[in-house]
Amino acid sequence: MYSSIPILIFTFCLLCISKSQVYGNELFENDLFSRTHSSVLEDARLDTFSLIRKYGYPCEIHRVYTEDGYILEMHRVPHGAHDDRNEPRPVVFLQHGLLSSSAEWILMKPGKGLAYVLADHGYDVWMGNARGNTYSRRHISMKPTSSSFWKFSWHEIGYYDLPAMIDYVLRETGVAKVQYIGFSQGTTAFWVMTSSRPEYNDKISAMHALAPVAYIPNIKSPLIKAIGPFTNSLEVIFKLIGADEFLPNGKMNELAGQKMCIEEALTQVLCTNLLFLICGYNIDQLNKTMLPVVMGHTPAGASTRQMIHFGQSYNSGEFRHFDHGWLKNKLIYGSFKPPAYNLNAIRTPIFLHYADNDWLSTPKDVDRLSKDIKSVVGKFRVAMPEFNHLDFVFAINATEIVYHRLLNIMQVFDQ
Ligand SMILES: *[C@@H]1O[C@H](CO)[C@@H](O)[C@H](O)[C@H]1NC(C)=O
Ligand SMILES: *[C@@H]1O[C@H](CO)[C@@H](O)[C@H](O)[C@H]1NC(C)=O
Repeated sequence: MYSSIPILIFTFCLLCISKSQVYGNELFENDLFSRTHSSVLEDARLDTFSLIRKYGYPCEIHRVYTEDGYILEMHRVPHGAHDDRNEPRPVVFLQHGLLSSSAEWILMKPGKGLAYVLADHGYDVWMGNARGNTYSRRHISMKPTSSSFWKFSWHEIGYYDLPAMIDYVLRETGVAKVQYIGFSQGTTAFWVMTSSRPEYNDKISAMHALAPVAYIPNIKSPLIKAIGPFTNSLEVIFKLIGADEFLPNGKMNELAGQKMCIEEALTQVLCTNLLFLICGYNIDQLNKTMLPVVMGHTPAGASTRQMIHFGQSYNSGEFRHFDHGWLKNKLIYGSFKPPAYNLNAIRTPIFLHYADNDWLSTPKDVDRLSKDIKSVVGKFRVAMPEFNHLDFVFAINATEIVYHRLLNIMQVFDQ
């Protein structure tokens, strides 16, 4: 009986989005937008490549095939806006978080978006896109409309996507190693890769984890705390209604972002709450003018299995392979319970960046991770008590608060 309450709340929130869309219409048609607004609305529509070009930076699109047939799109910013000297540059690989894409690193414009900041500091920047998101929805034989396309969690992102993309970058640039920056799920997939395919430890000179996620029993997000315990029933419901993709991004979502989140709109508070319901937010570091841009690019597509796998981690308190149920587990893993990832196999030097008010990557869970991975060489707490999960990529002052320290550490590993 009670188990349906969180699901009802969730459905109610989704209904709210479609309602506010209608509300927004009038505002949208009135001519009260300044030039900033129209530029912001344009940014909500443009893809990663066009956005980077709009702000005067070079960008390349690369296509990568995984062993199991997914076709991933990578975005590269080979150098800064005014620095095209033909010289070797250190290479950095960036992997986005859950429900996001390469856009995450550039939405906040030059000087603020991490990809721009890195390019300005002399790096050759490569941004990955996990299977299933806006840019990686192709496969050599399966279509995203088929259920089999979506049979993956973040395990497959770490096991297939990251190795394919990293090998591609090494081949293309000719360097022996890259530095790796992951945000949230972008760190989870890294732990999967380096524990399951240890040879990849040798292809990364240093790994920088922004809001690391592996053990998550101490999550503070109210929504996840409410829904998490019902992961199993949710999985059944998702199967019944055939929902293989979680919150697909489409025109509707983009419109909802534009119409709901424009500054001065009455619905803005609601919009803020909805997007940040899972991750929480830090009102002082959130640039409200930029909300339509964030909404235009997020959620960027994920499988329901990714969510279910996180739900299982929350419930078990462990960092394990996907739980298929005891019978299938026995067939696949040879044990009734899914095995834990072997964190002992991780050898790459790791730097963890975490924040006190992070609802998803909590200090307690990060602490446990830092003890279980032997190669953690640095653990850095963000010097702002209110700093939350999304602030690592979207905060007004992320550059001053996090990226400067990150750049200082990275210098040590530049060849
Ligand atoms: C917020 O975003 C707008 C639009 O991009 C920009 O003009 C403004 O400077 C930003 N505010 C802060 C505090 O960074
Ligand atoms: C935060 O960013 C704003 C806008 O870019 C800037 O004016 C301010 O000095 C920054 N604050 C800190 C503490 O760095």
